[in-house]
Amino acid sequence: MTAILEFYKCEKCGNIVMVTHTSDGELICCGQLMSLLEEQTADPATQKHVPLVRKTATGIMVTVGSTPHPMEKRHYIQWISVKKDRSFYIHALRPGEAPEAEFPINDPDVKALEFCNVHGLWTNRK
Ligand SMILES: [Fe+2]
Repeated sequence: MTAILEFYKCEKCGNIVMVTHTSDGELICCGQLMSLLEEQTADPATQKHVPLVRKTATGIMVTVGSTPHPMEKRHYIQWISVKKDRSFYIHALRPGEAPEAEFPINDPDVKALEFCNVHGLWTNRK
């Protein structure tokens, strides 16, 4: 069974998909079941992964980690997303860019997620 706004990864090719419809079906890629990406919240060693949300003049800024996360070719934040009510925003990042994204949302009370290509999916709340 899959649920809306879950993320699944193919362990063979690395494909990642976001579910936009809850169903009893299963997701298959490269001939095998895709793995649900678990949302992690605790990063006590360095706090490099948990997204932080703050208000800006035009919306909210989501920064990855109280200690900035690396943005190198082999290890970087691939995307940052925000869920607010029934809306979902996503911003793709590239190596060399800052591990942050601004979204046009007035209320900082949001669920933020980010995906590190090495350490997986992280959120500020479950
Ligand atoms: Fe990481």
